[in-house]
Amino acid sequence: MHHASPPSPTLPINLAELEAAALQRLSPMARDYYAGGARDEITLGWNRRAWDTIRLHYRVLVDVSNRDPSTTVLGQPIALPVMLAPTAFHKLAHPDGEIATARAAAAAGAGMICSTLGTVAIEDIAAARPPETAAPLWFQLYVYRDRAITRGLVERAEAAGYQALVLTVDAAEIGTRERDAKNRFALPDGMTVANLAGTGKAALGPGGDGAAGSGLSAYVRSQLDQSLTWSDLEWLAGITSLPVLVKGIVRPDDACRALKHGARGVVVSNHGGRQLDTAPATADVLRPIADAMYGIDESCTVIVDGGIRRGTDIIKALAMGARTVLVGRPQLWGLALGGQAGVEHMLSLLRAELLEGMALCGCPDVASITGDLVDAAR
Ligand SMILES: Cc1cc2nc3c(=O)[nH]c(=O)nc-3n(C[C@H](O)[C@H](O)[C@H](O)COP(=O)(O)O)c2cc1C
Repeated sequence: MHHASPPSPTLPINLAELEAAALQRLSPMARDYYAGGARDEITLGWNRRAWDTIRLHYRVLVDVSNRDPSTTVLGQPIALPVMLAPTAFHKLAHPDGEIATARAAAAAGAGMICSTLGTVAIEDIAAARPPETAAPLWFQLYVYRDRAITRGLVERAEAAGYQALVLTVDAAEIGTRERDAKNRFALPDGMTVANLAGTGKAALGPGGDGAAGSGLSAYVRSQLDQSLTWSDLEWLAGITSLPVLVKGIVRPDDACRALKHGARGVVVSNHGGRQLDTAPATADVLRPIADAMYGIDESCTVIVDGGIRRGTDIIKALAMGARTVLVGRPQLWGLALGGQAGVEHMLSLLRAELLEGMALCGCPDVASITGDLVDAAR
């Protein structure tokens, strides 16, 4: 008689399984903070579903025996068109926090954008990468009311070797994530906004009553500059030698304004459905934004994030004009499950799916991932 061998613990086979496993590991407060979206979480759902509705019109009888997923972003080489989106507070997922994430990205050849709101200082994150790492390391900026703080962050990012600045513009207020409000989200003892150490702005305690319960929304409301306009983008571009990208764009006219006011490109993003609920899915606005921007400057950089969970999502994003994608939550799921190894596993799944999709689409390299692969209406 045949005896079935006992089930061995298997690694998640895709990002959805990774998410399900991670959700079981995390504390309720961390889980809700990572997974949640603003208000009814409509945009959060749309982001994911919009990629699913795009069909891939694959080519056949192309030699795909050698596939190369490498490309360049802002002139920097990258082994695959994937970067880790800026996400706050990695230590809520794993004690190694951003150190583990940065090492995993470096090992996979993926880029990383560090959040202003990290639980590890940007100097320590940069120093944790092997010195020969070529993959991009960028810094995401929130502008504090106290401009001296913002200037200081920019100078520190430059000195630590970060190669670009990503100015997030969709967070004049924090969109209310009702799960966080109910949990009265706060950083646990011993965790701080590490980049703000010594400024009196590193602590993040709970918020107030009702919908104002999240400590993060209280922090943002009291510290970040709600008066930001296009002229402040010019100010930023003027105080740094680094290229500046603007993150949080969903309209072609805003994308073109960003170029006009000194940005080298944009991240088409709605903050993973965490800011304005019922904002459009990014997959639905990417193509018109990319067309408008390349019409002005062929060499500008268009990036997209929101709901990217499959290799085929990456192919669709590149076909519609993105130079790379960002993945947000999946890095946190990987981190929660296995620290650095967990994030590396997440990236290896995406890489394998991307290579499979390239083979089946008849695309031996990134340059052959062109607009005709997706529905003409896109
Ligand atoms: C837990 C969490 C924290 C985030 N923190 C930041 C942040 O500090 N700065 C920022 O620009 N975007 C932040 N984002 C938005 C991400 O950069 C990105 O736009 C979004 O997560 C992409 O969607 P996805 O999670 O579906 O991949 C955060 C997102 C999540 C889920």
